[in-house]
Amino acid sequence: MKKFLILASLALISSAVKAQTYLNPQAPIEERVKDALKRMTTEEKIKILHAQSKFTSAGVPRLGIRQLNMDDGPHGVREELEWNTWSPAKWTNDYIVAFPSLTCLAATWNRDLSNAYGNAVSEEFAFRGKDIMLGPGVNIQRTPMNGRAFEYMGEDPYLAGEIVVPYIKAAQKNGIACCLKHFVLNDQEIDRFSVNVNVSERALHEIYLYPFKQAVERAHVWTIMGSYNLWEGDHCCHNDKLINGILKKDWNWDGALVSDWGGTTNTMQAIYGGLDIEMGTYTDGKLRESAFGYDDYYLAKPFRELVNDGKVPMSVLDEKAARVLRTIFRTAMNPNKVIGNQCSEAHYDVCRQIAEEGIVLLKNESSLLPLELSKYKKILVVGENATRSLTQGGGSSELKTLRDISPLEALRTQLSNINSQLSIDYAPGYASGRAMYDHEDKVDPAKQEALKQEALEKAKNADLIIYIGGLNKNHKQDCENGDRESYDLSFGQNELISALAEFDAPMIVTNFGGNPYHMPWLNKVEGLLHCWYLGSESGTALANVLTGKVNPSGKLPVTFAKNYEDYPYVKYGQEAYPGITGVETPKNSAGEMARRQVYYKEDIFVGYRGFEKNKTKPLFPFGFGLSYTTFKYSKPAITKDAEGWKLTIDVTNTGTREGKETVQLYVGQAKVAATRPIKELKNFTKLSLKPGETKTATFRITEKDLMTWDEQTHNWKYEPTKFMAYIGASSNEIKSKISF
Ligand code: GLC
Repeated sequence: MKKFLILASLALISSAVKAQTYLNPQAPIEERVKDALKRMTTEEKIKILHAQSKFTSAGVPRLGIRQLNMDDGPHGVREELEWNTWSPAKWTNDYIVAFPSLTCLAATWNRDLSNAYGNAVSEEFAFRGKDIMLGPGVNIQRTPMNGRAFEYMGEDPYLAGEIVVPYIKAAQKNGIACCLKHFVLNDQEIDRFSVNVNVSERALHEIYLYPFKQAVERAHVWTIMGSYNLWEGDHCCHNDKLINGILKKDWNWDGALVSDWGGTTNTMQAIYGGLDIEMGTYTDGKLRESAFGYDDYYLAKPFRELVNDGKVPMSVLDEKAARVLRTIFRTAMNPNKVIGNQCSEAHYDVCRQIAEEGIVLLKNESSLLPLELSKYKKILVVGENATRSLTQGGGSSELKTLRDISPLEALRTQLSNINSQLSIDYAPGYASGRAMYDHEDKVDPAKQEALKQEALEKAKNADLIIYIGGLNKNHKQDCENGDRESYDLSFGQNELISALAEFDAPMIVTNFGGNPYHMPWLNKVEGLLHCWYLGSESGTALANVLTGKVNPSGKLPVTFAKNYEDYPYVKYGQEAYPGITGVETPKNSAGEMARRQVYYKEDIFVGYRGFEKNKTKPLFPFGFGLSYTTFKYSKPAITKDAEGWKLTIDVTNTGTREGKETVQLYVGQAKVAATRPIKELKNFTKLSLKPGETKTATFRITEKDLMTWDEQTHNWKYEPTKFMAYIGASSNEIKSKISF
């Protein structure tokens, strides 16, 4: 009897111990995944593959396996929405820090700040109880019309890769999964649900996939969001060649592919096209509100029935469920997931630093900046963005902030502290209507004229004018689900700026926005800054730069063209952007034919690659940004060793104030083939230099850095040749070059 009891209790303990493995936080994740899978029913495996609410996918309550809590967006945690609708839940504890837009982060060219950003923003996601943050985004800014460019990291794949990797590593170190988006080719908002993108294999790999590949290989991003658009006729949320072929097989990615909301369109495609978690705009995925429609999802009842009928092997279901369980154990059930915090001063400091380092000084005639306030008595601030909150609007990346310092507020506080005799007057100058909805056609011309006259009236006796305008996340003004319709600033701003510039008072223009724009008034103004979107500390950061508390060090992550027509794709017409409709193309396996076809005819010649190839002079080139100090570059030296080449160059601060300089390394063939860009960004480093101080920038170049995509072998190839290294303060301010 005794023996029996011992055996029985051993069996009990071992089963209990066995029961613990997936719950054992110390057990290796793959063991936990295997053990959990073994215990789950078919029904439970299916349930974790799709939404159970707007922003959660199910866990397995019976087994104590947590659901996945997801939330937007790349710049901070979205306000809580109701479980099953797009309406705010009206919580009062979900005010958060709005961090600067990712284009602003890219404009800092500062990998350390990217790390700080990922750490801080993921602490806010953790504190709000989230497991997956729906960001960052690294789609490529091939057109200045893209409504969501502000959420991405510019026109160059290398810069986007370098900036996105530290952000993801820092976030995932806190136990928060990034959901890198939108994979892939979601580079316009026009017909985003149904545009099929035609692009060469080489441009796809060298430009559009490149930042995603960096995030997979170097940051091991845990989830990726498929994009709404199609590639080769299939939706990217379930595209066998893209997801199973390139992402999961070639890149050996072990994460979970999440659909964009409502981006799933067919059960068999979802099953065999690599989708792991189907999220939805509505409870039936895409089309309408319906109560408890989650079982209508393509990966829900239809999939469960196929498995139960033996039409789809259990192994297919297990492979998906394993990826979702892996994500749950990496985040929701990760013993090292941080508690985080919300609206801490540490977070505001990071937010402000990124904003300060992202602001780009584009023009500073006769050193008008930084402001010498003793010279002025009456400053006039003009422009709606001086007071408008730019943390709202823009679409799914909108935020509900506790702190949102406006430029006017900060200027009034800071400038009067420095010079109490100073008066700061304000005139909106134009109106743009409600965030996200209103557009130019909604504002009243008479009202606009009155606002303009009011500003001009006040300008008569100002001795300095600071204009604060630009884009503003309204519909078609840097906002999801719509592209801009003009390269000009909206709401009569060009005419207003030109009229203000006629007055004697010197004028500084500071514009916000995720995209370049036309500047017909440029020669009439003395100072120009571009501010992207700066988040909760917007005003403070801008005032710090204008007063000189901070020396600007931002550099453009996107080319500012003088004219819209200068962008490389424009000469190819509508086909190249925004694409054409009514083209007969073969239906896909779901019997679907894309509504719109867009052809990336500029191929790899996106941004500065195209401007240089076409010998088109940009207004402000990629990588350009001024400082309040000056820098001198020495002659470079290059040596070869086992790992490749090492290039060094000394940079000296030859001015009178501390500053930061981003030294950029571009490489091209010494004899440029017609099929290659003249040069491409291959590295950069940001040096902080005191007056008179010299530091050495050291770059390593390897054969891998010099590879190109070969469409014959469908792989990267290295072709030894004579290369030229260009070291510059911007893509077209090359200080020296050296061949190797
Ligand atoms: C939106 C966006 C995506 C966002 C998701 C959830 O349609 O495309 O970026 O994360 O839906 O709001």
